[in-house]
Amino acid sequence: MIVRTPPMGWNSWNTFGHDISDELIRKTADIMVSEGYLDAGYNYLVIDDCWQEPERGADGRLVPDRKKFPNGMKPVADYVHSKGLKFGIYSCAGTLTCEGFPASYEHEFTDAATFADWGVDFLKYDYCFKPIGFDGPTLYRRMGMALASCGRDILFYGCSWGADETRKWIKSAGAHMWRATGDLVDSVGSIKEHAKMFEQSVKYSSTGSFADLDMLTVGMYGKGNVGVGGCDDLIYKTHFSFWAMTNSPLFIGADIRNIKKEAKDILLNREVIAINQDPGCWQPYEIGTKGGWNPSSIPCYVKMLEGGEIALGIFNFSEEDCKISTPLDRIGLSMGTGKTLEMREVWTGETETATNGVHKTFVPAHDCKLYRCRIVDIKYGV
Ligand code: GAL
Repeated sequence: MIVRTPPMGWNSWNTFGHDISDELIRKTADIMVSEGYLDAGYNYLVIDDCWQEPERGADGRLVPDRKKFPNGMKPVADYVHSKGLKFGIYSCAGTLTCEGFPASYEHEFTDAATFADWGVDFLKYDYCFKPIGFDGPTLYRRMGMALASCGRDILFYGCSWGADETRKWIKSAGAHMWRATGDLVDSVGSIKEHAKMFEQSVKYSSTGSFADLDMLTVGMYGKGNVGVGGCDDLIYKTHFSFWAMTNSPLFIGADIRNIKKEAKDILLNREVIAINQDPGCWQPYEIGTKGGWNPSSIPCYVKMLEGGEIALGIFNFSEEDCKISTPLDRIGLSMGTGKTLEMREVWTGETETATNGVHKTFVPAHDCKLYRCRIVDIKYGV
């Protein structure tokens, strides 16, 4: 099995767009190891679009941009592997990539073979320039077959933005992860919108084929290719917690060569990552809070963890500070079970409990609470 828990890593697109190079990738690989990202689980280093020459070679194969990657791609992959990381690359199901470079339509098997020769471990497969008369399932299944038969384990990331009801057919193409949404940009509005869109995909996300909410913008502060407005650390914390809680793959999009300590601490929070990477891989479920999903509402997800614990996330994407009451019977623990929760908020380390079957907490605007809970006996009269 190529992947059991949500894949993690770094991707060049959010910050660098076209501005990628052999040197950038090597330096990023160094930092992923020396600054503890690999140890925390971020093991895929992925080059996104714009790595190609505008034309294929005489042999029909894709050619890496000669200025950006003067030694070709294999030495880059070798370097990434030498650091203990896995190497990822990008192509597209259409006739061109989204930025207009040659893509894999009707070259699927050749490209899969090329990637295998270079030592690629991960393919992000986009959905631009779809040829007339072809549908998504056909195009993605073709590449799925090409990868599965290329002789190398290559993780397949179907990046069709949730279009054409991706969630309903992408698993039949063998995708290990698949984009449930359009592109995320570095703004509060975009993060909120993605969190909201996720609701329709969550029940299709499963072990070995995870719904992806797009690369993280944590630590970008408005800089780079999808910089837009930028966010503050509070919304980055909530963004990261939501992605982690809902089993989304976690791909860093910031420039980790120069990242603020606060953002790095968010990305490397081991307890949050442990909820995302829980080996049980249970599906998260929404229990609904005040008002359901509307602009001022607060999604609340629960996820059972291996070993009998439970994770609970309350995400205040609204503009108002809120007091949130969560009756435990919504989670499945009515008082009649004789059980309650002992809750540890993983960002603060503080402990909270429920009283008379209801947990109450205060969540400031844009903040979240993320708990790891133990199921314990209700102690009457204490
Ligand atoms: C988009 C994709 C982005 C990025 C970009 C590159 O379609 O969703 O994540 O890969 O193409 O052109």
